[in-house]
Amino acid sequence: MAKRETWATRVGFLVAAIGSAVGLGNLWQFPFKTAGNGGAAFVAFYLIAVLLIGFPAMLAEFVMGRRTHRNAVDAFSEIGHRQWRILGAFAVVTGFWILSYYNVVGGWVLRYIVGSAQGAYFGAPAEYFGAVSAGPEAIAAQFVFLAIVVGIVALGIEDGIEKATKVMVPSIAVLLVFLAVWAFTLDGAGAGYAYFLTPSLDAMVENAGTAIPFAVGQAFFTLSLGMAIMITYSSYLGDDDNLLVDGGTVVVFNTLIGILAGLVVFPILFANNIDPGLGGGASALFIAVASGFGSLPLGNLIGVVFFGVVALAALSSAISLMEVTVAWANDNFDVPRPQLAIGIGVGLFVLGLPSAWDVALLTWFDNIAYSLLLPLSVLMLVLFVGWILAGDAVAELRQGAGELGTFGPIWMWALRLTVPALVFATLALGIQTLFLGESPAFFAPF
Ligand code: PFF
Repeated sequence: MAKRETWATRVGFLVAAIGSAVGLGNLWQFPFKTAGNGGAAFVAFYLIAVLLIGFPAMLAEFVMGRRTHRNAVDAFSEIGHRQWRILGAFAVVTGFWILSYYNVVGGWVLRYIVGSAQGAYFGAPAEYFGAVSAGPEAIAAQFVFLAIVVGIVALGIEDGIEKATKVMVPSIAVLLVFLAVWAFTLDGAGAGYAYFLTPSLDAMVENAGTAIPFAVGQAFFTLSLGMAIMITYSSYLGDDDNLLVDGGTVVVFNTLIGILAGLVVFPILFANNIDPGLGGGASALFIAVASGFGSLPLGNLIGVVFFGVVALAALSSAISLMEVTVAWANDNFDVPRPQLAIGIGVGLFVLGLPSAWDVALLTWFDNIAYSLLLPLSVLMLVLFVGWILAGDAVAELRQGAGELGTFGPIWMWALRLTVPALVFATLALGIQTLFLGESPAFFAPF
């Protein structure tokens, strides 16, 4: 079997990991949930959730990958815990499931780039969204998005993912800054900022029932945890990287991009007197924000840039998720990577067909993932690293990070107790909402 690939540069890993973290969650959930749940007060609360849950869990994935240099399934055998491979397999299947419909949403975004250039949705945004989000057109767009993802992953870690994300991630940041500066010049800017960030403890307390589960769920979703992505990406790392610094950098960038997104969308909505709604999700971007472009000067251009940013964010996330399954296949079968990527792409396309056919089915796929698969996957992995890998995990984290002091035990006990307790609570809530038929609306479009 050929030698396993590695990142060409340390920054390569970092940029790819940021690209994975920065996705639709940052653009169509974070700003809206922040605005509805107490503004800056919610941001502080969300950061605490990320630090308490997301960050320790991300480090757990990092050490699994870097210690073993294997895909998420075989990583467990590599450290002598073959019987726990089922945990890795569960995360891989969760990721495959999520990617099947994420590609469909990616297709919508591509479609909106074209639609913005033509001004196609300017007159009737809701009708346009209804027409392109399901059926043959959505399937065609899903195919195009998936083909781009397959093409990049087929080229490998260094020549595909690293090169692509080194262009995509800086472009996302630069274009978002450009859009935020442009948005600042709009009439609604001040009102938009106030709506987005004015701190309100009252709003937070009042909406605690939805704000807390969202913050907890988002803490691991936004860092791409539970889908084996970070295990896979860190398996291509050298042994001297400082995983603590890398993890911290991902958290900071990921949060900044979410805040920047808010500085773009709310001025657009307020400049056009569009109700921002409270939920976020697909309709917030594809209908509410989109309808703003129609009545603004240079709306076509701004629309193309805006949905271009969304497309880059979705692509760099989808690539990371595709790599999870490709890495597993690549480590196990003596078949060239491009063939593996195409084969897996066909599987994803087929599994995504129901979601592309009917948005209700997409929502069903999404609910299963967010209420059940993701929390369960995170829960099992943190328990494994905390209780079973334990001291070996701390030793691995120390490599490249140096002496950890009290952080080592704090991290361990977080993985053993606090993170599982909080994730278990979301899982219980998720199962409850799933069976009561209500949408938990972490990612859910409507
Ligand atoms: N962190 C990503 C996001 O916020 O959108 C989560 C993700 C979703 C990663 C889907 C990859 C993916 F295919």
